[in-house]
Amino acid sequence: MQFQVKQGDLSTTKTACLILPVFDRNRLDGSAALVDKASKGTLKALLKKADLGEDAGATQMFYDLPGSGAERLLLLSLGKKKELNARKLRDALSNAFGVIEGSKATSAAIAIDGLTLDDDPTALGRDIAIAATDAAYHFDECKSDAKSAKHPLRKLTVLTASRAETTATRIGIEQGQAIGDGMNLAKDLGNLPGNICTPSYLANKARAMGRKHDKLKVRVLDETAMKKLGMGALLSVSRGSRQPARFIIMEYKGGKAGAKPVVLVGKGLTFDAGGISIKPAAQMDEMKYDMCGGASVLGAIDACVAMDLPLNVIGVVPSSENLPDGDANKPGDIVTSLSGQTIEVLNTDAEGRLILCDALTYVERFKPAAVVDIATLTGACIIALGHEASAVMGNDDKLTGELLDASKASGDRAWQLPLWDEYQKQLDSNFADMANIGGRPAGSITAGCFLSRFTKKYPWAHLDIAGTAWKSGKKKGATGRPVPLLTSWLIRRAGK
Ligand code: BES
Ligand code: MN
Ligand code: ZN
Repeated sequence: MQFQVKQGDLSTTKTACLILPVFDRNRLDGSAALVDKASKGTLKALLKKADLGEDAGATQMFYDLPGSGAERLLLLSLGKKKELNARKLRDALSNAFGVIEGSKATSAAIAIDGLTLDDDPTALGRDIAIAATDAAYHFDECKSDAKSAKHPLRKLTVLTASRAETTATRIGIEQGQAIGDGMNLAKDLGNLPGNICTPSYLANKARAMGRKHDKLKVRVLDETAMKKLGMGALLSVSRGSRQPARFIIMEYKGGKAGAKPVVLVGKGLTFDAGGISIKPAAQMDEMKYDMCGGASVLGAIDACVAMDLPLNVIGVVPSSENLPDGDANKPGDIVTSLSGQTIEVLNTDAEGRLILCDALTYVERFKPAAVVDIATLTGACIIALGHEASAVMGNDDKLTGELLDASKASGDRAWQLPLWDEYQKQLDSNFADMANIGGRPAGSITAGCFLSRFTKKYPWAHLDIAGTAWKSGKKKGATGRPVPLLTSWLIRRAGK
């Protein structure tokens, strides 16, 4: 999608669809008032008759408004001006772009006056670009008659009132476009089925990204290399699968040569049947989404490259399947991790932590400034937080604070769970250094405790995205989360 930011007047802008926000039940001010004036009061009269709902996000389309350069007029209700917040605004923008995607309009225009909360045009620009890019997403790669949108939105014009506003908005639009594209990449990878999106597929995708950009170097370790290193925990999971595991390392060098990198580690489990501790059949298809942490790492790195972010970022994705097999992990098996610590595999379905722990040990070599892992790690996380928030845990209050701030700024919600020492004993094993499960109480926290035993050498945080990475039901599909949270954090780390 092409974005254009310029100083200008909505009433004279030529476009297929003018997006016109309406506050406080039919109040027209700023550019809306100008449009009304140009229409000689027709807009006001239309509004009086319109069945536009009062809740933020309600929309109604009109055609051929006199005096306007637009073919269509999309009224977008934003509720009471006093009650408008970033979340409502984002949701309303998403609705508006959804309606436009369903129309024949391939261009649209929106004026930002009246929409900038906290007087931050950059944040607004970012939200607009993300909402538009997100709404334009379609996944029909696996349909035989790919009926991808016949009239996709191709061009969005954003009108500002001053030069300073134009500059600030443009920065936000560029960031939002990068973030939206990164989200769409993550969604594509998530939505692809397990028989296509295998560990090798993910690795090839990462390699292709590396070939395209000078500042991005991609390496992939195969099972022989992993064995040589001693990644016994990761390899124990992949033993039950005919697809070979892959260990993806993406180094984005946007910062100063010697500057310590930030490391993202994403769970890339391309299908999780549970292994010998097999999962029930219902909704097992959704376990193709068990690589969404890894996909969010590719998406975030993609956004870093697109923004040319001045920061060194390393993305690591341990990738495997988890299937039952004659050679699969069995309950009670004891494996030795790359760290040397031994693990009793009491449940083969707690495999995410087994592939992550070796990756978390591996990244010590980068002497990271901070490590964040992202994983669809526990069903318990959905019980705790539902589908609204990702869970954050970690060993460094400053880092968890930064991530929580980024979640607020981006609207990609996250909530902290405690990693108190008292939970650690749930992982006691009679036969190994630790068990891979901690029982039913606080299942997300004990998973975090498990990972914490492999992250003692650097500031670390863990994001459990089990409830946020995809939607179930009629609108089943990957969400692209937590790419907005991660990129928002990285942008701040880069001092932008
Ligand atoms: N990938 C799952 C977690 C998951 C389940 C995410 C459902 C989203 C929806 C993970 O590998 C898993 O199976 N975890 C187990 C851990 C348990 C055996 C301690 C779980 O949550 O049941
Ligand atoms: Mn599992
Ligand atoms: Zn899993």
